[in-house]
Amino acid sequence: MDNMLARASGRPVTRRRSRVALASAVVGLAVAAATVAVASGASAGTTLGASAAEKGRYFGAAVAAHKLSDATYVGILNREFNSVTPENEMKWDATEPSQGQFTFANADRIVNHARANGMQVRGHALAWHSQQPGWAQNLSGSALRQAMVNHVTQVATYYRGKIHSWDVVNEAFADGGSGARRDSNLQRTGNDWIEVAFRAARAADPTAKLCYNDYNTDDWSHAKTQAVYNMVRDFKARGVPIDCVGLQSHFNSASPYPGNYRTTLSSFAALGVDVQITELDIEGSGDSQATAYRNVANDCLAVARCTGITVWGIRDTDSWRASGTPLLFDGSGNKKPAYTATLDALNGGTTPPPTTAPPTTAPPTTPPPSGDCAATVSLNSWNGGFVATVRVTAGAAAINGWAVALTLPGGATVTNTWSARATGTSGAVTFRNVDYNGRLSAGATTEFGFQGTGTGPTSTPTCTAS
Ligand code: G3I
Repeated sequence: MDNMLARASGRPVTRRRSRVALASAVVGLAVAAATVAVASGASAGTTLGASAAEKGRYFGAAVAAHKLSDATYVGILNREFNSVTPENEMKWDATEPSQGQFTFANADRIVNHARANGMQVRGHALAWHSQQPGWAQNLSGSALRQAMVNHVTQVATYYRGKIHSWDVVNEAFADGGSGARRDSNLQRTGNDWIEVAFRAARAADPTAKLCYNDYNTDDWSHAKTQAVYNMVRDFKARGVPIDCVGLQSHFNSASPYPGNYRTTLSSFAALGVDVQITELDIEGSGDSQATAYRNVANDCLAVARCTGITVWGIRDTDSWRASGTPLLFDGSGNKKPAYTATLDALNGGTTPPPTTAPPTTAPPTTPPPSGDCAATVSLNSWNGGFVATVRVTAGAAAINGWAVALTLPGGATVTNTWSARATGTSGAVTFRNVDYNGRLSAGATTEFGFQGTGTGPTSTPTCTAS
């Protein structure tokens, strides 16, 4: 929002442009509360970012820090885009090359450039089986689990307040027809590693939208798509903090744009999460490439909760698949037919504005009478540590808040808590709701968690409603 207003007022623009930008800002604030900036020096309708902003959406690009000294590259970036994703600079190997030692210089260059130019930032990616530093590749079990939670916590805390959306977990499902999780060192720490990562990210940065991001999840009929859908549905049902699903959407002849793409977008959105197209590139050229890009843009515009599109690079020569010429600008920075088709789609039609993710439990207009609550604990323990997931259930009446008290065995210490505020770290510990999960309608549940050293709690917790 502040990006948008800064951009709307921060540059010498014509009066008409100012009015358009300001009107766009007001609509965005009133209807969607979306954090969308109008692209640098742009007037609505003539650049990807400005046209997307008019539809309450963002249009972003993956950016490499070392290209920020390339004038052609930066010229296109600043003119066309209002969101950036660091292509490699926020990954685990880049940000924590030695355990416990964090380096943010390259990621900061991108974040600072974005903030200076009114662009929002997608964080990519906190927990991923790939591009792990060597020391993490060599860890397993509780040591890896703790290192992962620490990494998520440290990086999301460092960037707290600067990230629009985080890819909290990336590419955790297997390809093919199994619908299974991908085997990885992270997966082998326990099936709950994904939700633990999301809870740690929420605790570290409560303002960022938290996304699950994957590829080959574009075709609604694919087992992998269904598997991710089932995980997100389960997370929403159990109160695991997830706000968005990222569809990478790397398309080529082996994995083409699917005709049911809009169904995939709308089906995920119907679960109560935003959908973001996070790494779009489409191999090819000319009309066929342009048509595919047009289809993707139109599909996003047709789904209210498809809130933005990011292309995975700027010029074809910047792409990880450069030989497939999959992007919107050629190697010299000229606009391709795919660019024009995308811009036309963004400028066409009337589309519903995106909505922001509703809280897990919709706040009632008048406070409900207070009832009672119950709490149960499930433990994932290992030698020397544990993660506890606590489910809080409202009784026959709605509640406005809750406090869960439990006693830890001697020697046990709470080291990290998510979706609750803890009082005490050993012995008698009380966990109270945070802003977004205190109100529960009758019979509704929410979950919070904590990690600790030593042995996890074994006695039954008491829940007190307020
Ligand atoms: O910077 C070094 C350079 O110094 C060295 O000489 C060279 C030798 O190989 O490597 C360079 O690093 C490469 C880096 O890209 C920067 O170009 C890495 O080897 C290479 O592995 C890395 O590839 C990245 C890839 O993720 C790694 O998995 C791509 O740039 C990046 O576009 C790609 O992005 C992924 C998303 O994160 C997740 N989804 C799929 C997407 C495409 O693969």
